[in-house]
Amino acid sequence: MPRLAVARMHRSETANEEVHIGNRFLRLAILYALLGVSLGIVMAASHDYTFKPLHVHLNLLGWSSMGLFGLWYRSAPAAGETTLARIHFWLHNIALPIQMVTLAMFVSGNESIEPVLALASIAMGIAFVCFAINLWKHTAHS
Ligand code: HEM
Ligand code: HEM
Repeated sequence: MPRLAVARMHRSETANEEVHIGNRFLRLAILYALLGVSLGIVMAASHDYTFKPLHVHLNLLGWSSMGLFGLWYRSAPAAGETTLARIHFWLHNIALPIQMVTLAMFVSGNESIEPVLALASIAMGIAFVCFAINLWKHTAHS
């Protein structure tokens, strides 16, 4: 293979591996925004607000919170390279879909799912604590 092609391949592989955590948060946040806003439109059109808690948290935990995390990690790249940031990212993004699916089941009348919803919510709380610690550590000095 020509050397240039190898160099290009290597560069693009490296670039893929290095999508910064701030951008990863932002890219997922906008997907949650599309989901949350679509559900808002469906609710408004149908006058059925059963899924309002889902709409609220898709938008606020998915879009707004993750959007803020993304913007902040982009403004403090060193904070985004810590183990704490990786734990924060994975905990938030594993907890959130479980929380949203079980919340949808719960508001649809499946009350037996509540323990799973509760566990996912606690995991989400821990993810926020990871973020809080990381933010405090990286904002102690200007
Ligand atoms: C096209 C976009 C959107 C539509 C059509 C929409 C629609 C709705 C509807 C129909 C409700 C229920 C209102 C009610 O119970 O009387 C609602 C509630 C709410 N929405 Fe949206 N929404 C949209 C975008 C958003 C976004 C982007 C956010 C947050 C970033 C958001 C946050 C909320 C919150 C917090 C509530 C609860 C408000 C309350 O209970 O007083 N919405 N939305
Ligand atoms: C682990 C994380 C969270 C849990 C377990 C949680 C839980 C709840 C619960 C139980 C309610 C009451 C729902 C009802 O009355 O039907 C609620 C409402 C609400 N939460 Fe959260 N929440 C979380 C995170 C957040 C965050 C991060 C935000 C904002 C950035 C937020 C914004 C709201 C708002 C605006 C309402 C009122 C919605 C309405 O009027 O219907 N929540 N949340």
